[in-house]
Amino acid sequence: MRRLLSLADLPGDALDALLDRAAAMKTESPDPSLLLGRQIALLFLNPSLRTRTSMELAAKSLGAEVVSLTPGQDAWKLETEPGAVMDGDKAEHVIDAVRALGEMAHLVGVRTFSGMTSFDEDRTEPVLSTIAAAARVPIVNMESALDHPLQALADLLTLRETCGNDLRGVPVTLTWAPHPRPLPMAVGAAFLRGAARMGMDVRVAAPEGFTPPDFLIEEARGLLPGAGDVTVTDDQAAAVRGSRAVYAKAWAAPALLGDADAGAAARTANSGWRIDKDLMALGDDAVFLHCLPVRRNVVVTDGVLDGPRCRVYAEAGNRLHTARAALAEILGGPGS
Ligand code: CP
Repeated sequence: MRRLLSLADLPGDALDALLDRAAAMKTESPDPSLLLGRQIALLFLNPSLRTRTSMELAAKSLGAEVVSLTPGQDAWKLETEPGAVMDGDKAEHVIDAVRALGEMAHLVGVRTFSGMTSFDEDRTEPVLSTIAAAARVPIVNMESALDHPLQALADLLTLRETCGNDLRGVPVTLTWAPHPRPLPMAVGAAFLRGAARMGMDVRVAAPEGFTPPDFLIEEARGLLPGAGDVTVTDDQAAAVRGSRAVYAKAWAAPALLGDADAGAAARTANSGWRIDKDLMALGDDAVFLHCLPVRRNVVVTDGVLDGPRCRVYAEAGNRLHTARAALAEILGGPGS
């Protein structure tokens, strides 16, 4: 593996092998000298708790040195627009930042962001693709406009721990959830890609107006390995019925991006999509998954988050093991 931009880039057997490696690194402490002499730079253009912690600890636990930078706070404010005339407040272009970091580090992790104007535009990954084209060392996507492969790896490891390693045909629901703010689709899209790649029976549930863009559903269907399915419904209960896992995530109404008032009204009108115990009871002993951070009692009730079927903290913990596996795969060669 030369870089990690999207799970869609990994063939199914490579994804299985990566998850096997993460599981092995979880049960047996990995070689603390595996990445000795390697340097890693992490560039956060958006805030993070789990991604930063898991990547830093993963790198250190394998012997690498790691530095995290937050442009605009502890590093120069970055321009991301290709061809920009930089006569404003942004002192450095992300192209130059990534090239400079690549002269000092063997791998650069980047967290970029959605423009939140159009999911069609996000689909082109304007900032990540600029960085990937400019970089001379491997790039790891730590969340971009429309992807979050490190999160999806942890989601899949958690699903394997719940449902067994062979996830083909296992029913799972990705449900839209209410939120006070319009959010990007990165996490939902990454989960959709990963679950489809594993051949799961993925049911996407979203209220009218919040259905993910067709291109994303078609992309996920194209990743199915000859098993599983990707279906879309606006009936949340029907989707959850018989599912082994319920993955909740908020995202903006695609057609209302840029219309703050209409978007807020649409989200409020669907506040009943909050996940509660009654909904979870429709599943097949279903576990609850969420990437975190989560808005308690807006996205999901306390009863579910603090209940016995909640796996979100194990899922967050799995960020460490999957980050180790990804770094080892890119920088460390075989074995752990
Ligand atoms: N799930 C996730 O990526 O968390 P952070 O935004 O805290 O990194």
